[in-house]
Amino acid sequence: MNDRKAAPDRMEKIVSLCKRRGFIFQSSEIYGGINGFWDYGPLGAELKRNVKELWWKSMTKMRDDVVGLEASIIMHPAIWKASGHVETFADPMSTCKSCKKLIRDDQWWPMMCEQPWVQSLAGLVEPGTDSFQTGDLLKWARGKGKQLAPNLALVRNPEVTISWLAQEVEKGNRPKDARDFYLFLATEQFGATGFITPCPHCGGELTEPRLFNLMLRTNYGPIATDDNLAYLRPETAQAIFVQFKNIVDSSRVKVPFGVGQIGKAFRNEINPRNFTFRSREFEQMELEFFIKPDEVVEKQTGSVAKLAGEGHPGEPQPNWGWELWHRYWVEERMKWYESIGLPRETLEMFSQPKSELAHYAKACVDILFKFPFGTQELEGIAARGNFDLTQHQTHSGKSLEYFDETVKEKYIPHVIEPSAGVDRLLLALICHAYDEEEVTDDKGNKETRVVMRFHPRVAPITVGVFPLLKNKPELVSKAKEVRDLLRPQMNVFYDDAGAIGRRYRRQDEAGTPFGVTIDFDTIGENGPELAETVTLRHRDSMQQERVAISELPRLLLSRLV
Ligand code: GAP
Repeated sequence: MNDRKAAPDRMEKIVSLCKRRGFIFQSSEIYGGINGFWDYGPLGAELKRNVKELWWKSMTKMRDDVVGLEASIIMHPAIWKASGHVETFADPMSTCKSCKKLIRDDQWWPMMCEQPWVQSLAGLVEPGTDSFQTGDLLKWARGKGKQLAPNLALVRNPEVTISWLAQEVEKGNRPKDARDFYLFLATEQFGATGFITPCPHCGGELTEPRLFNLMLRTNYGPIATDDNLAYLRPETAQAIFVQFKNIVDSSRVKVPFGVGQIGKAFRNEINPRNFTFRSREFEQMELEFFIKPDEVVEKQTGSVAKLAGEGHPGEPQPNWGWELWHRYWVEERMKWYESIGLPRETLEMFSQPKSELAHYAKACVDILFKFPFGTQELEGIAARGNFDLTQHQTHSGKSLEYFDETVKEKYIPHVIEPSAGVDRLLLALICHAYDEEEVTDDKGNKETRVVMRFHPRVAPITVGVFPLLKNKPELVSKAKEVRDLLRPQMNVFYDDAGAIGRRYRRQDEAGTPFGVTIDFDTIGENGPELAETVTLRHRDSMQQERVAISELPRLLLSRLV
């Protein structure tokens, strides 16, 4: 594989390929788009469907201890009071007093680093030091600064800002770091205002942060009033908690057991960014896995097993408490990511420090992926105690206790929650799959091959079927026969347009792992030995082999299970 390209360059190419090949489109593009919303095109829709099916299969169908749920997106608004979302599901946000843009506080510095004015100012700091010349700043303020950051104090009032900066440096109050440097440049009257935080977009003054609730609101019924206010769910998890009793009563599941759900979630993100990574509408794949409280495990088995060593703890045991169940789910989820083509070295595990956990949470491990724009969260696996069921029991007034026959006792189960984002995972798969390599064509010319190296399990198209020539009826009808043979079991794309090399390249870009070509040998024109055989081309190696048509389904399916 070629060296990975520089991050921004690589990301631009990925975004452009996504549009060109129909993986991801900007929502409502012909109307100028709508920020934070995305559509999946023909290839993206297949990729997404494959990923969701693989999650569903591994989390529910292949297990005896997990069932599924498909709940409504709009639920009783009291649910979001009970869950804490109305009170606390909020991000601190500032507004620019000049350009009025909104900035999520924790995004301020990453956004600053992307801005041309910040990058151009950074070039004035002497390499390897934190020193700068006030003369350079003045020149910048009177030149480039006017276009790039017109509302920055340094640009509006260069002499005053530079003179107070010089005084502070004289007194030994140098900017501590790069972030600090920009606070100095945004502040002209420190005594009156304290430090000003500059707007990443125009350099203007940002307001003090205030909390902004991320839930999207709507109304149900014909007239919008406060009485029929509802929220588009910000996570799928809560429906599982509020249907806990119905699931226990209808499915005869016994703790420990889980409920999985895949579905849309909505968050009114202040700064949607990094392509689909942070969107306002997205999909989650969540499992709530209910377990016995540790006291019950102890009563039943004598003692709770201790967490030892690293790695997967093996098959679940009756003496597992929350720690082992948590570890089990972290490792199961890592295994799953590997099984769909994200090798361990592309992932990282991050244990949230105790001080940053929600008050009810006992632990949370995030699975991160190394995106071109930084290492970021794909999934969080949290041990949430019995907080959610307890809250819903209190707020609804309905018992959510579970009667455990093994100890003849009622309790509220605890929960381990692996919560993944479909869209982020798709982006990770796309970023990981994207590759460019230099190849030499039949005429000896060098060209760049763009290839999406998806794992066959997730690839939008499993196999391309190509008659060598479009105008030879025997080839076409044989190719259609092969297409129809494979189609019931996998995604097949039939293509008879253009030179065969070009058709291969198109499928390389779509990430199709296999290509089947029907040629004159197939139809027996060169003798009976090769009749009913085809060329099977492997996307990654570009190697070709001769395979009997009758062998194709078995051969290809063996790569998908
Ligand atoms: N029920 C727990 C929960 O919702 P979360 O960490 O807020 O936890 C879980 O979200 C996953 O949902 C994240 O790891 C991420 O993959 C995905 N996700 C969250 N916000 C998102 C957004 N704005 N855009 C895309 N995916 C998002």
